[in-house]
Amino acid sequence: MESDSFSLDKDSPIGFMDSGLGGISVLREAVKLMPNEDYIYYGDSKNAPYGTKSQDEIRKLTFHAVEYLLDRGIKGLAVACNTATSAAVRLLREKYPNLPIVGIEPAIKPAVEHYKGGRILVLATPMTIKQEKFRNLLKSYANQADIVPISCGGLMEFVERGELEGPNLDDYLDATIGKYVIPSTESMVLGCTHYPFLKKEFKRYLKEKETELKGKEIELIDGSFGTVKELKRRLNEKELLTTSTQNGHVEFVNSSKDPEILKRCQMFLDLAE
Ligand code: DGL
Repeated sequence: MESDSFSLDKDSPIGFMDSGLGGISVLREAVKLMPNEDYIYYGDSKNAPYGTKSQDEIRKLTFHAVEYLLDRGIKGLAVACNTATSAAVRLLREKYPNLPIVGIEPAIKPAVEHYKGGRILVLATPMTIKQEKFRNLLKSYANQADIVPISCGGLMEFVERGELEGPNLDDYLDATIGKYVIPSTESMVLGCTHYPFLKKEFKRYLKEKETELKGKEIELIDGSFGTVKELKRRLNEKELLTTSTQNGHVEFVNSSKDPEILKRCQMFLDLAE
């Protein structure tokens, strides 16, 4: 669909997309902030993970998801996937200049603002870390904090499988982030929308390291609230916020036909942090 061939209506739903179930961590913030809106969430679990694919593949898959949402008549778009944002958000904005679009990015800015001069771990997919957008973000804060990117290939799969805790996950964390968990570390940015569903496990894991950390608490930071606040601002700017006072509706669509995946969508939306 071309950018000028559709009109935006305040009664239309807001579209969300992610490579799978992760973007539901952003969607649940949107539902809290704008409960009267309707939402369509497109998860591309069949093609997940995006984070180990090439930039071209991610772009193709992202455009496919967004075109589906546009055909469904959305009035605004949240790219609820750090990987898709870094690979495709600029091109989406070029193609659809009239559509309010927000894309989540690793929340390095708020982490640096809180912990100037401190050590900040950034967990993200291999592709997010490789992208120029991320490199530029790092460069712009490099002299304000010690930022350590950690490539977490394989981590989103735990969430897709609904494995939010347990010994395998524990082993994964130990092998991937264990050596970075030292007392000078102030915070850990969850730079992939799947990771907030593992917050409980991260906290438990860090608590276990209490002695190594000398009692220090590492704060977990993610960009979902900032992203939905920006989405609301952009919709408001275009007078596209609903005037309904009824609770809105959330529809889940997924490229995977696995019934467990669809069940997990609602479960993840209802999951308290
Ligand atoms: N949820 C996605 C993100 O925020 C990506 C996970 C993946 O598909 O690798 O980066």
